[in-house]
Amino acid sequence: MKKIGIIGGGAMGSGIAQVFAQKGHSVALYDTNQEALNRSKQNLAKTFEKLVAKEKYTEDQAKEIQENIEYVSDLVAFAEVDLMIEAIVENLEIKQTVFKQVEEIVSDTCILASNTSSLSIASIASACTKPERVIGIHFFNPAPLMALVEIIPAVQTQEGLAEEIKTLIQSVGKLPVITKDTPGFIVNRVARPFYGEAIRILEEGIADTETIDFAMTSLGGFRMGPFELMDFIGHDVNYRVTESVFEAFFYDPRFKPSFSQKRLFEAGYYGRKSGRGFYNYAEGIEKKAPSQDQALLEKIYNRILVMLINEAADALFLNIASKEDLDTAMTKGVNYPKGLLKWADEYGIENVKNDLDELYNHYHEDRYRLSPIIRNMVKNNQTFY
Ligand code: NAI
Repeated sequence: MKKIGIIGGGAMGSGIAQVFAQKGHSVALYDTNQEALNRSKQNLAKTFEKLVAKEKYTEDQAKEIQENIEYVSDLVAFAEVDLMIEAIVENLEIKQTVFKQVEEIVSDTCILASNTSSLSIASIASACTKPERVIGIHFFNPAPLMALVEIIPAVQTQEGLAEEIKTLIQSVGKLPVITKDTPGFIVNRVARPFYGEAIRILEEGIADTETIDFAMTSLGGFRMGPFELMDFIGHDVNYRVTESVFEAFFYDPRFKPSFSQKRLFEAGYYGRKSGRGFYNYAEGIEKKAPSQDQALLEKIYNRILVMLINEAADALFLNIASKEDLDTAMTKGVNYPKGLLKWADEYGIENVKNDLDELYNHYHEDRYRLSPIIRNMVKNNQTFY
């Protein structure tokens, strides 16, 4: 039974601790802030009260699971751990310092992982004396509920470690996918057009937010439209991710952020949590009815969908992940109704090509360039599955 050490008792660290504790692992959860540890422990107790009430666990099981987690304010407890997962603030220098510190305490065989969503694993590993034992293990929020886990070996990571971690992650009931150490990994890369293209359609005045959201939920089967979802995630988070992916991709125009979202971010209109984002959440304010113009709704849905498909296809073209992992990532990490490559087959590979070429020919912007994999597939009459 592996012993897990987790650094950072915030939203992610606490959730990851719960995942391992539920499967019988003993967990040491460390945070520099004692209050964070207290809060984490209390929240877990509340969670298990509810789970017992719903009869998901017995009282005894709930007690045992909670006792699997030891809340520690000293890293010495990490001398015994087999796997360390770091989930502290998203800051490279601070993460590097923590990895250096922890490496002095853990055993030589302990694996060191980061839950970072936007930093490269290579840059974190570079701070270590044994960088070959460093890997990315990226859980989604909330970790106990989201099945997907992205596993990210860095250039320094020893051969075989990703597979070893994959087996461990499967053993705690999660769905792991393996991805290259590139910006946004799979989900935060492939999902960008869902937001970016929706905003572009809005900025061009083709439709309003209500209509774009309605097109994606009614025709696409997405649980939330792009604007509802951005308001839900918060523009502080979503804008920052967009900006960091754009910078990390050496300013590839495909990932260019928008002024519309930047201004919301600057104004502090973060979305639901601040009462205002693309929508106004003040009491008594109703959303406008969306347009029922079927041709318009289809045009919006097709445009956003082919942009998403193109992003997934390009990630496959560049060997970021396997086609199965790309599809699993989007259905399990962001609840898309279908994997994008499977969706591409259904939509028709030639239709994807024609739609994107039409956008490219109209705008002459690099943003709309078709992934070569699609063009080749059309030539050879191929499908993804
Ligand atoms: P959070 O702010 O909820 O928690 C961070 C915790 O780390 C705090 O309790 C803080 O006291 C502690 N901490 C800060 N510096 C520390 C240090 N030097 N040593 C020990 N503890 C320290 O943050 P959250 O949301 O849990 O994110 C943590 C990491 O997970 C970040 O790298 C983030 O990018 C990543 N992540 C976040 C997701 C999210 O939706 N919140 C999803 C996936 C990954």
